[in-house]
Amino acid sequence: MEKITSENLREKFLRFMESKGHKIIPSASLIPENDPTVLFTTAGMHPLVPYLLGQKHPEGTRLTDVQKCVRTGDIDEVGDDSHCTFFEMLGNWSLGDYFKKEAISWSFEFLTSPQYLGIDKNRLAVSVFAGDETAPRDEESAKLWEEAGIPKERIFFLPRKNNWWGPAGLTGPCGPDTEMFIDRGYEKCSETCSPACDCGKYIEIWNDVFMQYFKNAEGKYEPLKQKNVDTGMGLDRTLCILNGVKSVYDTDLFETAKAKTEELTGKKYDESDEVKRAFRIILDHVRTATFMIGDQKGITPSNVDQGYVLRRIIRRAVRFGRNISLPQGSLSKIAECFIEKYKNIYPELAENREKIISELDKEELKFSKALVGGLKEFEKVIAHLDGDTIDGKTAFHLYDTFGFPVEITKELAAEKGIKVDEKGFAAALEEHQQNSKAGSEQRFKCGLADTEAQTVNLHTATHLLHAALKKVLSADVNQRGSNITAERLRFDFNFPRPMTKEEIAEVEKLVNEVIAKKIDVTREEMTVAEAKAQGAVGLFDSKYGERVTVYTIGDFSKEICGGPHAKNTGDLGKFVITKEQSSSSGVRRIKAELH
Ligand code: SER
Repeated sequence: MEKITSENLREKFLRFMESKGHKIIPSASLIPENDPTVLFTTAGMHPLVPYLLGQKHPEGTRLTDVQKCVRTGDIDEVGDDSHCTFFEMLGNWSLGDYFKKEAISWSFEFLTSPQYLGIDKNRLAVSVFAGDETAPRDEESAKLWEEAGIPKERIFFLPRKNNWWGPAGLTGPCGPDTEMFIDRGYEKCSETCSPACDCGKYIEIWNDVFMQYFKNAEGKYEPLKQKNVDTGMGLDRTLCILNGVKSVYDTDLFETAKAKTEELTGKKYDESDEVKRAFRIILDHVRTATFMIGDQKGITPSNVDQGYVLRRIIRRAVRFGRNISLPQGSLSKIAECFIEKYKNIYPELAENREKIISELDKEELKFSKALVGGLKEFEKVIAHLDGDTIDGKTAFHLYDTFGFPVEITKELAAEKGIKVDEKGFAAALEEHQQNSKAGSEQRFKCGLADTEAQTVNLHTATHLLHAALKKVLSADVNQRGSNITAERLRFDFNFPRPMTKEEIAEVEKLVNEVIAKKIDVTREEMTVAEAKAQGAVGLFDSKYGERVTVYTIGDFSKEICGGPHAKNTGDLGKFVITKEQSSSSGVRRIKAELH
């Protein structure tokens, strides 16, 4: 196989798919518009969900793209050879057009044709769905692979755990898939060695999903009216495989940023395992932050939702920067390398260059100042620790005074074999919010509101608004985006037409009634499944069995949400909708304030 750059790979994929009648569409935003159940776009199919469900796409029924994605679930693993919080996915879609036959034969052709990836077909293995009570064994795909030239012994039937994809959120389109692997030629690790085991013999390169089902809120699989194909190939990982390098950090994607980091620190990337890990964390996190801030719907660091994730990753990069003597102000310099590397594919990065640089500089400066003191304080805490757990109040003190996100405290503690009482932390945070709220009421009198308490109140008002919209407009109304500043909330939701004056007035009235009733806002932890069973609305980034926090406001609103929230709706003041406008096709936007 010849060496291939990221630019070549994207180009080859898109041109190949174009030659098969696909229209090339641009990458959608990293902030999902069409899925209220996750914070970031996590797969190429994600922005296409409405079309996979039957809505007509303006570009037709065969689409292809390179989509920016963020997954932060494995952030603790970043630093090894393969985990990254940002990656790109190459994909092609059939929206009720072709199905298994074409998808499989084109996948085979792209992988093996000398004009495209030129992989020796003897190095390929594939897996197909073994069947269970919800869907039959996928004999058809197996037969198609055999016809293409993959011998039976390299076609593996695997269960749902391995060969079923989706939905991307809690509900949505999903189906059996067939995955393609490179066999690295190692000995089988056991009699039953297959692409399902992690001995390293097989590396996944591509996934063709045959989307035939819709998983509903009850967890049932309904057949989709329209049968679709959704394929996804991770660009970073495929580059590694094709170029025979072990780590994504050794691909051209990181070349200039890595060299810049070496120049800034005077250290060599691979001078020791510890240095290498710090380099990788910084490179990954700065790349992700660059894409988040520079997105077409760019975000900035904050204490809620997407903004909090961004803050966490920037601060984590700053902390690891300290381990390799990365000077203050370096993150934006590294970001510039990524802007240069990616700007031809994602022009929004160049358009938002100033914003990326200034936001990174601001957040880095803010946290760097506090970090030194915070680390000293942390050492003191450890020295005086009684037992193996840092209590919630202390973790909160590190957050409040030194800006340590609790995840950083947890990570520092884990390095010393110590735990953090996270529940205690959440309680201390809540208590603080109540106190600062009381304080803010005092200060408000002289015209100075505490911004944090105001944001928290607007966050609670957002839940009330969401519930009121469902009651006034339709139960199908769902959150498509939310942004809160100290002055106002902004809420995007799916709805096909402008709201009438009467509807706006009715929504305001309902929200203000709940505020007037002075209802307690309660917080509980439960599994996602339990939350769903109780009818909670979801905005979350977690798996079905995972534990989540649910906020309930009487019988008016119940949402899965990380908080924080006001203690009682009586704290909110008067709710006023200041604007109702279009956000994008089929999505409306409301701006509202608390007076
Ligand atoms: N949705 C599938 C994946 O993410 C294929 O695109 O792997």
